[in-house]
Amino acid sequence: MAKTKSVFFCQSCGNEATKWLGKCPACGDWNTYVEEVVRAKTNAGAIRSSNSAILVEDIQAGSFARCTSADQELDRVLGGGLVPGSVVLVGGEPGIGKSTLMLQVSLKIPDLKVLYVSGEESEQQLKMRADRLKLPQTNCFVLAETNLQAIFQQIEFLKPGLVVIDSIQTLSTDLLDASPGSVSQVRECTAQLQRFAKQTNTPLVLIGHITKDGSLAGPKVLEHMVDTVLQFEGDRNYGYRILRSVKNRFGSTSELGIYEMRSDGLREVNNPSEILLSQHDEEMSGIAIAATMEGMRPLVLEIQALVSTAAYGTPQRSATGFDVRRLNMLLAVLEKRAGFRLGIKDVFLNVAGGIRVDDPATDLAVISAILSSSEDIPVSQKYCFSGEVGLSGEIRPVIRLENRISEAEKLGFSKIFISRAALKGLQLKTKGIQIVPVGKIDEVFQNLFG
Ligand code: TYD
Ligand code: MG
Repeated sequence: MAKTKSVFFCQSCGNEATKWLGKCPACGDWNTYVEEVVRAKTNAGAIRSSNSAILVEDIQAGSFARCTSADQELDRVLGGGLVPGSVVLVGGEPGIGKSTLMLQVSLKIPDLKVLYVSGEESEQQLKMRADRLKLPQTNCFVLAETNLQAIFQQIEFLKPGLVVIDSIQTLSTDLLDASPGSVSQVRECTAQLQRFAKQTNTPLVLIGHITKDGSLAGPKVLEHMVDTVLQFEGDRNYGYRILRSVKNRFGSTSELGIYEMRSDGLREVNNPSEILLSQHDEEMSGIAIAATMEGMRPLVLEIQALVSTAAYGTPQRSATGFDVRRLNMLLAVLEKRAGFRLGIKDVFLNVAGGIRVDDPATDLAVISAILSSSEDIPVSQKYCFSGEVGLSGEIRPVIRLENRISEAEKLGFSKIFISRAALKGLQLKTKGIQIVPVGKIDEVFQNLFG
């Protein structure tokens, strides 16, 4: 066992102290001290000598052969399966189904001894969940443990081909006094697990909690340490769940996996358009679908608008999930550039699912929803929109259009409306979706309502 000690470091300036301090004496910042493990120098020297530089062409690529997880959606999101020695972090809100997903994968995976470590549930609870999933339970071992050293002991004994940790926030290492879930514990446990994964070439899946603002609980550095970050999301009131990759060292981040939560576990959804289609039986006016991006991630959203004659003198404009000033701007553009008399109307706008969007590409869907409600003619639910509306009524190109188009295609849309100016330089690999280029608002109107 390497000689170790723990010290405290200021996260702002790196100043070192032997005990926790409220205020850093060096930089004056408050509450920045975090406990960290420092390994004795002699040990570090030993590790260095065993590793020597190799020519890239001499490295055997075979050692990176992926193994399938027997779950098509997960494999797709991972970029073709689990990479040996890689660390995957699966994040999501409580109750979204992270434990269910990973236990299901652990039970289903062929020819691989799996160790499922749970710090949240007892063995009996895991057995109940496994029974519910109705899968053959052959080579999956479960361990209810939170101490990292005890977990490593079991790993050494079992020599599993895949390790799942549920969740990283419940683990603690003897090397630190901090409580489980604290920044220093999460970071140190991840570092030790990651070292284990790389040294033994064992794939490792960590489940992580998410904080209220939607980021992974624990230090941001956690996301830097792992190879792949997957986000499991969805509205708990609906049965659908989306698994997307936020970071992937071994694949693309534009893939997503879709599941349906059933009483017997998560079912892979092969035809994702059923998600949107199942919500309305008949076509309704005032609804348009926007192909937006949330950071690096494509997201298809339903925009709902209601335009009605103002009951009182001053018309009301209200927007949920969308900037109301931008809505006013779009209404002014519709009035001035396309001649729609909306100045005397109440306009309400809502982004379905309680999501907030800032992406300017939503504009085109917003005006389509408003026009649809104003004319009382439905827009087909198979159409979606991605374009920014300029002050002169022109439809402007938006970034990452290829990603938006491929997401829309994956979700089963038949047409996507985009800016004509974006057509140049667009590298299309799509077959299943028709691209409708539009230059001005009038053209959108012509296309939709004739
Ligand atoms: P869980 O995997 O415990 O969520 P997490 O680990 O992300 O906190 O899933 C919790 C929810 O899933 C719970 O509310 C019950 C539901 N569920 C089903 O609907 N069907 C099932 O087969 C299982 C196992 C859970
Ligand atoms: Mg859980």
